[in-house]
Amino acid sequence: MKQVSSIADIRSEVAELKSQGKTIAFVPTMGALHAGHLSLIRLAKEKADEVVVSIYVNPVQFGPNEDFDSYPRQMEEDLRACKDEGVSVVFTPDDNIMYGAGKRYFSINIDELNEHMDGGSRPGFFEGIVLVVNKLFNIIEPDIAIFGQKDIQQFQILSRMVEEFNHDIELVAAPIARANDGLALSSRNAYLSDEERKIAPGLYRALQYVEKQIRDGVDEPGLLLKHQQDELEAKGFKNDYLNVFSMDDMQPVIKLKPGSTYILAGAAYLGKTRLIDNIILDL
Ligand code: PAJ
Repeated sequence: MKQVSSIADIRSEVAELKSQGKTIAFVPTMGALHAGHLSLIRLAKEKADEVVVSIYVNPVQFGPNEDFDSYPRQMEEDLRACKDEGVSVVFTPDDNIMYGAGKRYFSINIDELNEHMDGGSRPGFFEGIVLVVNKLFNIIEPDIAIFGQKDIQQFQILSRMVEEFNHDIELVAAPIARANDGLALSSRNAYLSDEERKIAPGLYRALQYVEKQIRDGVDEPGLLLKHQQDELEAKGFKNDYLNVFSMDDMQPVIKLKPGSTYILAGAAYLGKTRLIDNIILDL
């Protein structure tokens, strides 16, 4: 496995693989790799000959009061995990390589896909993600890129980006990897105290409860969602959102219709840790 940090080096590694006729699957990450990331790498290996992983904590997707400084960083362990999974090349740029010191003249603006869910709660978050992934796609030019359903709004926004900006890259969504008790794996779970970790699966349980009611025939889940939010608050969560959104444009939905696809999604804080989770509802 090679580890490279400069744009020239990653380009020449990828060019070398492509000249051998290999297909490339790309898994972008911010490191602190857990079994969720590794499941993406495994899916990448099934879909292409060679896997390229990037590890880069992208500063522009963090808000001023968010956890950029404390975000877990563990490069040695991450490189070992990538090696064990049979990754071909790991790209580990720094801020200077990705953004340089000069002024940026262009900015990204995202329309209604960004209004609700994490886009609504975290100004600048998806603009920062679109910026860095756009750059990474231009640098690496993979055949395929794998993203997790865990960050479903990220997947939908990046799918639109690929379409509108004509990246010749197939995006693949990987299922949510969970701990035994149902908690969606996340690098941020490392922030949870023992007490919070015990409560944390409550978010997924609330989603599962609402999913069951919807599958049993509830088509206006508003009150149900409100009730589940109250229950989460009683357990010690501080809610951000818990709602059903349309899959196409990520807008909140009041009345569900059979034959449509929705996303039942929640975000809540335990202490200062922000948890997100979702279930896709193919009705
Ligand atoms: P990061 O949070 O490190 O996640 C990297 C990828 O792993 C994302 O596609 C995310 O959806 C996926 N992932 C995280 N937890 C998962 C889980 N429990 N099951 C399945 N997949 C999971 O997402 C980012 O980094 C950044 O925004 C990035 C795309 C790298 C741009 O900076």
